[in-house]
Amino acid sequence: MRVGVLTGGGDCPGLNAVIRAVVRKGVNEHGFDFVGFRDGWRGPLEGVTVPLGIEQCRGILPRGGTILGSSRTNPFAVDDGVQRIKDNLGAAGVDALVAIGGEDTLGVATKLAELGVNVVGVPKTIDNDLSGTDFTFGFDTAVNIATEAIDRLHTTAESHHRVLVVEVMGRHAGWIALHAGIAGGASAVLIPEVPFDIEAVCAHVETRFRSEYAPIIVVSEGALPADGTGMTLVSGEKDAFGHVRLGGIGDRLAHEIEQRTGKEARAVVLGHVQRGGTPTAFDRWLATRFGLQAIDAVAEGEYGVMVALRGTDIVRVPLVEGTGELKLVSPREYDEARVFFG
Ligand code: F6P
Repeated sequence: MRVGVLTGGGDCPGLNAVIRAVVRKGVNEHGFDFVGFRDGWRGPLEGVTVPLGIEQCRGILPRGGTILGSSRTNPFAVDDGVQRIKDNLGAAGVDALVAIGGEDTLGVATKLAELGVNVVGVPKTIDNDLSGTDFTFGFDTAVNIATEAIDRLHTTAESHHRVLVVEVMGRHAGWIALHAGIAGGASAVLIPEVPFDIEAVCAHVETRFRSEYAPIIVVSEGALPADGTGMTLVSGEKDAFGHVRLGGIGDRLAHEIEQRTGKEARAVVLGHVQRGGTPTAFDRWLATRFGLQAIDAVAEGEYGVMVALRGTDIVRVPLVEGTGELKLVSPREYDEARVFFG
C-alpha cells in the first residue's frame, strides 16, 4: 500500500514527530511505502510530491516546522479542485492519505472523505481549539514559550513601572492566553470568547500599581472590546479560508490603557515565535502517539476519522466530530482565573 502524507495550515511544533511516527510504523510494521505532498493541499492539488521514507525522517523528532512544508491552500476554492486531487492521488499511486492539520485542513479532509477519498486526519494547532480531542500538539509548546516571555516581562515592567501588554495567538479561542496568563501570573487575561470592558482592564492596571507591582495584561489576538466601550479595531486582509489576518489588538490596548490611566504602556507581540522551534516533551509524546494511531487506522482501512486524545488514551473519532465545531474556553474556566485579575 502507498500512503501520502501532508501537513496544512499554520505550522506547529510536533508536525515532524507525527510524520516520523507514521512513516516508522508504516514501513516497519505494515510494510507500506510513502510519498510526501508539499505544502498542505497544494501538493495533491498540483501534484507536487517529495520522497518520504525512514531516511527522510532521521533526526526530525525534535525539529520544529514541517519537512513537508505547509500552506493554507483550499482546494474547494479552486475550479475542479476535487477532481484534480483525485487525479493526482491516482497518478502518484496513493491508496490513502494522512492529513495533518487544524480546522481548515481537516475541514477539507472531512469533505474529501465524504467524496470517497481514503483519508485519516491528525489534529494539530497551537490554538488547541479543535473539538473531539482533549489537546492538540503544539499547544503545550506555545504555552511554555508564552509563559517564559511573561516571566521575563514581569521584571522589566517592574523596573520601569510600566504596563506590558502581551499579545498571544488564538484566533477564535483563548486557550494560550488563559493557560499562559495563569501560569505567568497575569493581571488580566483577555480572550475572544469574552468581550472585554476597557474600563475594567484599566481598573486592574490601577490596582496592580497600587500594590507596587507592574501589570502584565495577556490578550489573545482575536480578543474584542465589548460593544459600547469606545474601542474600535481595524480588520485586515483575508486568506483562502476567509480568515482575517489578525494582530494589532496588543498595540491598540496599550495605547488605550495609556490614554485612560496615564501610565506608560507597551505592547509585545509574540506572534510566530510561539509556533517556531523545538516541541516540548509533551508535544513530542502526543504527536508520536497520534502518528502511530493514524497509520494503524490506515492499516485497518478505517477512513474518515481523526485521532484524538481522551484522557490518556488515543482514540479515533469521525473527522466531522473534530471539525464541526470549535472548542472554546467556557465561561466557567475563564471565571476561575478572575480571582487573580487586578
Ligand atoms: O491557526 C493557528 C494560528 O496560530 C492562529 O492563532 C493565527 O491567527 C494564525 O495561525 C496565524 O497564522 P499565519 O500568520 O501563518 O497566517
